[in-house]
Amino acid sequence: MLTVEPTGAILGATIRGIDLSRPLTEGDFGRILNALGEHGVLRFPEQDLDIGDVQRFSLRFGDIQGASAQDPDKTTDPLANVGVLSNIKENGAYIGSPDAGQDWHTDMSYRDVRGFVNVLYGIRIPRRDGKALGGTEFSNMYAAYDALADDMKARLEGLTATHDFEKFWEHMRRDRASGRPPMTPEQRKRRPPVVHKLILTHPISGRKALYANPGYATRINELPQAESDALLDHLFAHQLEMRFRYTHEWNERDLLIWDHLSTIHRAIADYGPNELRLMRRCQVMATKVFDPDFPRPAREAALQAA
Ligand SMILES: [Fe+2]
Repeated sequence: MLTVEPTGAILGATIRGIDLSRPLTEGDFGRILNALGEHGVLRFPEQDLDIGDVQRFSLRFGDIQGASAQDPDKTTDPLANVGVLSNIKENGAYIGSPDAGQDWHTDMSYRDVRGFVNVLYGIRIPRRDGKALGGTEFSNMYAAYDALADDMKARLEGLTATHDFEKFWEHMRRDRASGRPPMTPEQRKRRPPVVHKLILTHPISGRKALYANPGYATRINELPQAESDALLDHLFAHQLEMRFRYTHEWNERDLLIWDHLSTIHRAIADYGPNELRLMRRCQVMATKVFDPDFPRPAREAALQAA
């Protein structure tokens, strides 16, 4: 029997009583979807999953974006969209992305079809003096929206922001000494800036959330540049207030999923090159969840099962 235990913090819940290596029933999937819409981050501890299990679970939420470094059209490997996050090297080269997400952002806000869910499976977790390193920190964008003054909520309604992949890429190069090369013209062409509303109504919970993030949001389109800069600075500071934040401390065999529509996040880079970390990751796009026919049957099934 699947249970949902809220963390008691500003977001997050632990899901027990389910083995994700087995096919999910519609009822359980609906309950997971509802819990995700409510709590933003879900941890499934003590899961024994192979790469195919991670992919199959991820596909329940939507289509998976190909790993960003590769062109998904050029691979025939059916598991190529299951990425690797790791600072482990083999033959002198990293086996996965070593510095992904090490500052505040929302995955795929830079795409027309936004990111919906990230699925991460912890295989190797660095520890120092018994304490897990490399946590994932979140901030709750329902709470950030709710805490805005009424006149600010009214001001933001109807405004749109431009999101640009290159902003985060360049930030990592410039401010974090990342060894990433500059984006190539081809990469830029594949990732043109896109526009999203600043305030979204969540497709599962129906709650309003602030949809902006320091990683990719570059401009509020309806305002002059200086006003846009000032408002974005204000929103970035607001959405990162400590009262909205929660950090997930990893354990091996944790499967963690989070909702990109109601949270922003960052990877905490507090471990060294010899403190090894290995995870699998699927970045799931919002290709299903916005289809009104998709969540409803699952939600109704969940209500009947509850
Ligand atoms: Fe991320």
